[in-house]
Amino acid sequence: MTDTWTLFDRLADSYDQVIPFFAEFAAQMLDVIDPSHGMRLLDVGSGRGAIAAAAAARGYTVTAVDAAPRMVSHLAAAHPGIDVRLMDIHHLDLPGNCYDLATGGFVIHLVTTPAQVLTELRRVLRPTATIALTTPGPCEDHGRWNAFNEIWTEFAPRAAARPFPDHLDVSTCLHEAGFVDVRTIDIAVHLPVSDPQTCWDFHMSHGFAARVEALNPTDAAEFRRRSLAELTRMHQSGGIVLDRGATIHLATNPAS
Ligand SMILES: C[S@@+](CC[C@H](N)C(=O)[O-])C[C@H]1O[C@@H](n2cnc3c(N)ncnc32)[C@H](O)[C@@H]1O
Repeated sequence: MTDTWTLFDRLADSYDQVIPFFAEFAAQMLDVIDPSHGMRLLDVGSGRGAIAAAAAARGYTVTAVDAAPRMVSHLAAAHPGIDVRLMDIHHLDLPGNCYDLATGGFVIHLVTTPAQVLTELRRVLRPTATIALTTPGPCEDHGRWNAFNEIWTEFAPRAAARPFPDHLDVSTCLHEAGFVDVRTIDIAVHLPVSDPQTCWDFHMSHGFAARVEALNPTDAAEFRRRSLAELTRMHQSGGIVLDRGATIHLATNPAS
């Protein structure tokens, strides 16, 4: 397993369970794509099924693949109607020319070789099929999260490693892989959070946990203490609201 799959395998029990954050983005993404009922959809890096489960509920025939065994077992157990497979998405063990739509929520920026993943997705997609990938994106939070972000900015340089790249130019990657009609749409979530501890637990239930774990134990404890103090201040002055944005990268597999 790569470090990424190991991380998500370890997080799988709590991933998207503290606050339905990724599920909210998935619902918005499916609203934007709005495909026809019955389409064959491949969801890559499916996690607990934020996109896959919502798509199945909307009537798509869904195949979901992820390389973290515990993500796969949770998804398969919760949604027996979805074809769930344990697979590295750099090497899709799936037939070519088969799917009408490929989705990937918050995964393309985490993989080792995005170009190889996109080449594989082109192979399994039918001509004129759509691809839709989300990555973290811009969000207007009216300065609400400035103080929390500043705490992280202070600690980040002391982290032993950067677990994930800071940025991936997904549009260029899609063009270079041969997709056409490449475009982006920004979406955002605005989720009230009941209390500071729940908000901290949310942060430690997804990829952000890897950043905190890259700090030495003393710094990690101090970052947690300062973060909870800031979250408590937010809670007492109007409430904690999770404002986050994502960019949907849409493209089409060419006709031939
Ligand atoms: C941030 S999570 C996103 C999960 C889900 N798409 C969502 O929106 O909630 C990233 C997922 O991609 C999976 N992943 C990362 N690299 C992968 C790879 N090379 N092959 C398959 N899955 C991978 C991880 O195991 C994890 O479940």
